[in-house]
Amino acid sequence: MSSNLAYMQGVKSLKDIDVSGKRVLIRVDFNVPVDSHANITDDRRIRAALATINYCIDHNACSITLVSHFGSPKGAFDEKYSLKSISKRVERLLQKKVEFISDFENSKNEIAQCSLERVFLLENIRFHEGEKQNDAELSKKLASICDIYVNDAFGTAHRKHASTYGITEFVQTKVAGFLMMKEIEAFSKALLTPTRPIALVVGGSKISSKITLLKEVLQKVDKLIIGGAMSNTFLKALGYDMQDSLYEEDYVHTALDVLNASREYGVKIYLPVDLVITDSVENPVDVRVVPAQDVLEGFKAVDIGPATVKLFSEAIGMSNTIIWNGPMGIYEIDKFSKGTFKIANAIADCYAYTIVGGGDTADAVDRASEAENFSFISTGGGASLELLEGKILPGFSNLDRIKE
Ligand code: ADP
Ligand code: 3PG
Ligand code: MG
Repeated sequence: MSSNLAYMQGVKSLKDIDVSGKRVLIRVDFNVPVDSHANITDDRRIRAALATINYCIDHNACSITLVSHFGSPKGAFDEKYSLKSISKRVERLLQKKVEFISDFENSKNEIAQCSLERVFLLENIRFHEGEKQNDAELSKKLASICDIYVNDAFGTAHRKHASTYGITEFVQTKVAGFLMMKEIEAFSKALLTPTRPIALVVGGSKISSKITLLKEVLQKVDKLIIGGAMSNTFLKALGYDMQDSLYEEDYVHTALDVLNASREYGVKIYLPVDLVITDSVENPVDVRVVPAQDVLEGFKAVDIGPATVKLFSEAIGMSNTIIWNGPMGIYEIDKFSKGTFKIANAIADCYAYTIVGGGDTADAVDRASEAENFSFISTGGGASLELLEGKILPGFSNLDRIKE
């Protein structure tokens, strides 16, 4: 199982090269969760990159350029998705001046100069249309401001974008950062010689990008437990009227495919039997628990109900390896957080190898005060699902290798 992991373990990391006197570009994933006032609710992804950044500083890299995306802007500047506010937090955590570069093409000469110990953070790379298109011109421009490329953006390692993949065509030395290696090590521990049964718990709202992976993932797990907005799409596929709940009409067929495939592979699927529904997310007046078949007209399902918590917890308790990505409801709002927190408690209480992944899910586990009780907290959501699926992630596939 999982020869993709063995392949990824074989890439060169920062410790295999000399960064002294070199300009290093580090692709990080600073796509942190924020609240409605743009406050960072969990800076784990920034903290997770510090080891790599500090290593470069300590080993006399002459300049360090940090590149990240933040949210999903449409290829043009959008204040809401600016990394400027994040820059302050990076500076605070790094305890070092971080120079924010709003337009790297205009500042190329300054960045390209070798001036010892300068740390730059580029504006959201997804403001460039070419980023998501893996555009060669953008890749080349990024490559031109560094001697060494370090990919430490595990959370984005499943994306084949200019800053995560394309750039590697144009840089001589390209290696993985410490976070990337740590993540692969933790997943290898869980998946190379897994202790069965393996349960995958999925939820959250990134339905379209994750539901398509589930069919493949079914071949790797024994149980699939589905909650959050993801399960709304499955319940719709069963013919339930989900009313105003968040679900993806275009993926109802994919949900049916997953359900059919689960029978073929002998995988047990667990779906909510009851739901917390509300008349409004922002101003909830009427909040009720109803059977999954009975979402009321004009209501939205925003959390799993207590019977579902019991069902899921029992299935979780009978597993020896548990991987979790995606909250069970709108956990950011107290009233709708119970299901997610109780599932966090249930997984944390297991005598199993437990991995939780994803920006929001890791935040939820922190809020449930269970962070210490998981075997590993991954910074990757979609990335960890693609690992599980058996893929070599694009963020690793073109890096230098220890043995050719
Ligand atoms: P992660 O960041 O852990 O990979 P996602 O980004 O896929 O997870 O999903 C997290 C988001 O899903 C949260 O903002 C949460 O509010 C939302 N969510 C979960 N369940 C529901 C639901 N039933 N309706 C609407 N949003 C939901
Ligand atoms: C994430 O939050 O899952 C990563 O930062 C990747 O973001 P994306 O799904 O917008 O590519
Ligand atoms: Mg998220």
